[in-house]
Amino acid sequence: MSLETGTEPAGASTAVNVRVRMTGSGEPEAAIVTDDGPRPTPGRGKAVVRVEAAGVSFAEVQMLQNLHPFPPRFPFVPGYDLVGRVVETGPDVTGVSVGDRVAAMPRHGAWQRYVETPAKTLAAVPEHLDAALAVALVTNGVTAYQMLHRSTSLRRGATVLVHGASGGVGMVLTQLAVHQGLRVIGTASPAKHDAVSALGAEPLDYRTPDLPRAVRELAPGGVQAVFDHIGGRGLDAGWAMLADKGTLVSFDSSVAGYEGGQWFRPHVPALRRTGARWIARRLGLTRGRRQSMYYVKPGEHFNTDLAALYRLVDEGVLTPPIAGRHPLAGAPAAVRALLEGSTVGKHVLIP
Ligand SMILES: NC(=O)c1ccc[n+]([C@@H]2O[C@H](COP(=O)([O-])OP(=O)(O)OC[C@H]3O[C@@H](n4cnc5c(N)ncnc54)[C@H](OP(=O)(O)O)[C@@H]3O)[C@@H](O)[C@H]2O)c1
Repeated sequence: MSLETGTEPAGASTAVNVRVRMTGSGEPEAAIVTDDGPRPTPGRGKAVVRVEAAGVSFAEVQMLQNLHPFPPRFPFVPGYDLVGRVVETGPDVTGVSVGDRVAAMPRHGAWQRYVETPAKTLAAVPEHLDAALAVALVTNGVTAYQMLHRSTSLRRGATVLVHGASGGVGMVLTQLAVHQGLRVIGTASPAKHDAVSALGAEPLDYRTPDLPRAVRELAPGGVQAVFDHIGGRGLDAGWAMLADKGTLVSFDSSVAGYEGGQWFRPHVPALRRTGARWIARRLGLTRGRRQSMYYVKPGEHFNTDLAALYRLVDEGVLTPPIAGRHPLAGAPAAVRALLEGSTVGKHVLIP
């Protein structure tokens, strides 16, 4: 079955697929190119989605620098997540129909006009939502939501520390936590403290020399949860900030210990610390504190949690800021902006 959505420019060939490719590591302007490729036809159990909006993520920055833990082989089409409309389905597809508006998190491959993806991984997107806003909540939103609601269990009035509260994940996490009645201390660079305050959090510079002490000054009993994408020694600082029975959630090792080409190595200290603290907890040596690792994945929880996020948008709780909407050819500039940390909010490609 097939449908064209009416979004194509007049006369455009539906057999042509415009796509972005990352050809190797290096500078975005040299390593990210736009060209034409064939439009995919869906295989068994797959659907072809006409992309309305695709997210630009920190993952692409890591892939460009050979620092992503699970990188595809160059050259490849990047793009962690997308929102679009099903235009064709292959044999044996159930639960998804041509014309459905959907979201997906293929981890790479979203930066093109047409994406072939397993139909069972598609989640529903309400018709009335802006595509850029909807895609800003796919990976970042579900990550934030699940860390808050599935990795921890926090009561109203608890205090949490959100690292990178000015970033894509951190802003959603902060909005969700404030909505839940939590007190949020959010780390960010000083230039973005106003943006963090506007979300209802107390900003703190992540470069503060003795961060655990600065946090203890704000929350003398410690915090009930720390959400950490720093890794390495950042996890020791986070552990020191925790109140008794508190939880440290490690969701990346993006800052600690990276040197060119290290690939998986920065994640080893995080795995080691998580294992050691698991054993120490079993032995009753952690005052009830625990450390877990989080990695977002598609599936049943993903779909229900994304639906919950979209309801929160409708209720006016969530307003993920959009830093820029770019055509596919604007991908290098969007990646450059993330690389330099120069913007607040989500960059989105509109193919
Ligand atoms: N585990 C998972 O499933 C999962 C899912 C999604 C994302 N992630 C990871 O989560 C992290 C954040 O992603 P994102 O999309 O939010 O990225 P982003 O939008 O680029 O935001 C990065 C954030 O990190 C902050 N930051 C920069 N240097 C820092 C430092 N030395 N210490 C503490 N914070 C620092 C930035 O603050 P300033 O801009 O103010 O400098 C910004 O708030 C990335 O590492 C990403 O790979 C993990």
